[in-house]
Amino acid sequence: MTSTAPAAATTPTAPEVTVQKVGGRIGAVLSGVRLGGDLDEATVAAVRAAIVEHKVVFFRDQDHLDAGSHEAFARLLGTPVAHPTVPSVDGRYALGIDNEHGGRANQWHTDVTFVPAYPAFSILRAEVVPPYGGNTLWSNTAAAYAELPESLRALADTLRGVHTNDYDYAAARPEAPSAAIEQHRKVFTATKFQTEHPVVRVHPESGERTLILGNFLQKLTGFNARDSRALIGILQSHVERPENTVRWQWRAGDVAIWDNRATQHYGVDDSDAHTRTLRRVTIDGDVPVGVDGRRSTLLAPTSVPEPEYGIASGASTDGAFAEA
Ligand SMILES: [Fe+2]
Repeated sequence: MTSTAPAAATTPTAPEVTVQKVGGRIGAVLSGVRLGGDLDEATVAAVRAAIVEHKVVFFRDQDHLDAGSHEAFARLLGTPVAHPTVPSVDGRYALGIDNEHGGRANQWHTDVTFVPAYPAFSILRAEVVPPYGGNTLWSNTAAAYAELPESLRALADTLRGVHTNDYDYAAARPEAPSAAIEQHRKVFTATKFQTEHPVVRVHPESGERTLILGNFLQKLTGFNARDSRALIGILQSHVERPENTVRWQWRAGDVAIWDNRATQHYGVDDSDAHTRTLRRVTIDGDVPVGVDGRRSTLLAPTSVPEPEYGIASGASTDGAFAEA
């Protein structure tokens, strides 16, 4: 993806869009916008600028959206991409986030970081929400980086880490996995990806430095397992600090859009047996670039399989394959 956001001075104004911050460091509610594929250019520019500034933005009362208009709106922000392994629910780009089929997101992560050009934006729409629980948390990974002591920032700037979708699920969960979770994992890891990212990337639109960590990160390059775990733990603890986060209680018809290049998120698994159904469309990102100018590298596989429809996140490796 090319960086097409206009400079702040030339951003068209869309006076009908109201921005209300939710927290000091992350999150804003946008009102005055009816999302869809027919938004004018000024409104799209205002929404995009708000996402990059606030990292995650929320819209209430977007019940009119369906799979088609959700995707049509997504196209105004960039190119929709399919999940590299999990089939969509509509034969196109809508990923089901559905607690009845074993998919769980109750670990801090950035979407799809096991491929080089992981998504720039994720657009999540709530169809069915439980009577309680099932909140989502987001963290600002630029704020987490900025609050590090200077010596730790200098170290982080030099680190690279390997991300995989085939991470150790058992180590992350105390309970035995259900059959549904086992099945989801089988689909999720049908192709096993490994990608080396810089731990700190320079954001292509804002120029901010953000941390690339989260649960797909397996180990830091050049460190043994113990040192790697300890260092990741220190950095990740800043991502998870409540001051860097926002927590959203979903209503049906809500839409959340986050800058996946500057956030992690966590879906709280506390709504018991109640149904929770959300739909996600992701927008293609670009290959991250570290502080030293080095780009992310796809270590495996040697080619990215075609999805059932369209193009997959990670397909635009753009020269990110490891040199043979
Ligand atoms: Fe996610």
